[in-house]
Amino acid sequence: MGTCWVLCTLLLVCGISCINGETPLLSLQGTANSYAAFSSLSVCPNSQLTLNFKSHLPNGLLAYMDYENNSFIQLKLEGGAVKLRVRLSNGNTLKLSTGENLHDWRWHKVSISWSQKVTQLKVDNSFQTGSLDFGSTPDAMVPSNSLLYVGGLPNLKVLILEELSLPTVYYEPRFSGAIVNISYINCSSTPTITAPELLSYDGLRTSEDNQCTDENTCENGGRCLNTNNGPYCDCKYTSYGGANCSVGECDQIF
Ligand SMILES: *[C@@H]1O[C@H](CO)[C@@H](O)[C@H](O)[C@H]1NC(C)=O
Ligand SMILES: *[C@@H]1O[C@H](CO)[C@@H](O)[C@H](O)[C@H]1NC(C)=O
Ligand SMILES: *[C@@H]1O[C@H](CO)[C@@H](O)[C@H](O)[C@H]1NC(C)=O
Ligand SMILES: *[C@@H]1O[C@H](CO)[C@@H](O)[C@H](O)[C@H]1NC(C)=O
Repeated sequence: MGTCWVLCTLLLVCGISCINGETPLLSLQGTANSYAAFSSLSVCPNSQLTLNFKSHLPNGLLAYMDYENNSFIQLKLEGGAVKLRVRLSNGNTLKLSTGENLHDWRWHKVSISWSQKVTQLKVDNSFQTGSLDFGSTPDAMVPSNSLLYVGGLPNLKVLILEELSLPTVYYEPRFSGAIVNISYINCSSTPTITAPELLSYDGLRTSEDNQCTDENTCENGGRCLNTNNGPYCDCKYTSYGGANCSVGECDQIF
């Protein structure tokens, strides 16, 4: 995946990625192309990934992050439970699963925390822990040019399947539903909770749990997007501006 792609898409989506400290509400359609990509997370024996989701389908990819030397994190909803699969670059692997009937269209909070040799997968009040030995390398998981993919992966024009540590992730059912409040505790000497930056996306939902259905004020072909702050009009592909893409070039003169 080229740097150019990241930079170009960065320019396209800045409109909804610039919300302070919180990731916008993503309503993912679960179509063949839907995904969102966030800035990467490095994983070490002292880090965390948290997100909130709701869905009415029992299966769907929540998150995937690819690392060097065949390592990865895959978090998915399968049969109504949340399943985590991790492989470290030193070959150590772990699978955890928790929760049931989570496809009830209610919000559920998932967190993965790495604390020394103990990895915990938590969904609401249920959790499972397992042992994952990072060995002596402090930075056991180095992002391989990858972003944190949420809901699915970008298409094969941007992604080289053979370069993924877990190529089968591409064929996982895409997530359909809503995801919000993604946060990281990144590897650093002073761990702090940060919201990653939304860098690119496709297939944001345009129906259901969609503020855009009832409140779409976007005119002139502006694209309505769901955010935590309510519907937002993306006027980039129109020649209009303003909050509702209703201000034309002529109007702006007056
Ligand atoms: C990946 O493997 C190579 C060769 O074994 C090694 O030199 C390198 O340090 C490894 N990188 C990581 C991040 O583990
Ligand atoms: C997301 O975070 C905001 C602000 O902290 C909070 O008000 C909201 O309830 C959270 N959403 C979910 C689904 O947890
Ligand atoms: C986490 O750390 C990695 C590697 O240092 C960095 O590339 C990434 O931008 C950081 N992400 C956040 C959300 O701070
Ligand atoms: C956008 O539309 C809303 C709802 O119709 C209206 O209240 C608001 O004033 C409009 N804003 C602009 C800048 O046109």
